[in-house]
Amino acid sequence: MARILIAGCGDVGTALGRNLSTAGHDVWGLKRRPLDLPAGIQPLAADLTDPTTLAALPAALDYIVYSAAAAGFGEEAYQSAYVAGVRHLLDALRQAGQQPKRLLFTSSTSVYAQNQGEWVDEDSPAEASGFSGRCIRQGEQLLWDSGWPAVAVRFGGIYGPGRTRMIDSVRDGTATRSAGPPLYTNRIHRDDCARVLEHLLFLPEPAPLYLAVDDDPAPLNDVLSWLAGQLGVPEPALTDGSPAKPGTGTREVAARMRASKRCRNARLRASGFSFRYPSYRDGYAALLCQEH
Ligand SMILES: NC(=O)c1ccc[n+]([C@@H]2O[C@H](COP(=O)([O-])OP(=O)(O)OC[C@H]3O[C@@H](n4cnc5c(N)ncnc54)[C@H](OP(=O)(O)O)[C@@H]3O)[C@@H](O)[C@H]2O)c1
Repeated sequence: MARILIAGCGDVGTALGRNLSTAGHDVWGLKRRPLDLPAGIQPLAADLTDPTTLAALPAALDYIVYSAAAAGFGEEAYQSAYVAGVRHLLDALRQAGQQPKRLLFTSSTSVYAQNQGEWVDEDSPAEASGFSGRCIRQGEQLLWDSGWPAVAVRFGGIYGPGRTRMIDSVRDGTATRSAGPPLYTNRIHRDDCARVLEHLLFLPEPAPLYLAVDDDPAPLNDVLSWLAGQLGVPEPALTDGSPAKPGTGTREVAARMRASKRCRNARLRASGFSFRYPSYRDGYAALLCQEH
């Protein structure tokens, strides 16, 4: 059985940790406040931005999953979470003489600049010019350059238990549909994120990069209308083409919301992975069921 460190053990990391511990592996969850980790994940209180706290990692780790997230949407937070934190963890592993078999990095489809509904895959240019895409690309590169086998996993928008912002906005009538060209969105259920990571940890000879999104890169309007039907509420109002509910007023968030692209998951599927929730319809239906 393997010894596995999940660095930045939040929502996805905890779901992964549970699966790995159930399968019999030794799992450590590293975060600043690890008190909420469930039994089966051994808590490790450390701050990835503070190298002194990383001096006592568990010995002889076989696998590392880096899944820390930025605390907010700002350059400093992204730099800390996706660049400095990665660098410090790699340094700590080297200084301790560790020889992990494989490192995984939870990346994001926000590294792509494509925004005209194009299909993108692992071979497409990933040249988003905003700080978020740049920092995440740097984190990927640090892992690939580490000298250890490393796999970056670019997730689409993650939804799942407790991550029901879209359902809530349709239910409370604040969601809007855009009258402009289709805004393609890509997503993946939290439980499939954990299953993808587990699959790629143990896959013989993985590629260095996978896109991890479900089979259904759907126009946002379709998702909103489908949800309205499921909830039995009126379809969200049509607006003149501005993005639906950007959330904050910052320019970059609005631009991100307009980043229409269709992510192809063929490489992941060809590796033998099968989705529990291949479409938003499956995943959201399960979430709505759990509400009752
Ligand atoms: N949200 C999305 O739709 C989306 C899309 C694509 C990719 N991703 C990526 O997927 C990954 C997993 O996301 P998630 O939803 O599981 O995130 P999450 O629930 O926010 O978990 C991130 C964890 O990182 C820990 N963390 C943050 N800064 C840290 C630090 N300096 N030192 C140690 N731990 C730190 C946090 O715990 P403490 O605060 O206790 O330290 C938190 O538990 C992230 O890398 C995220 O960027 C997310």
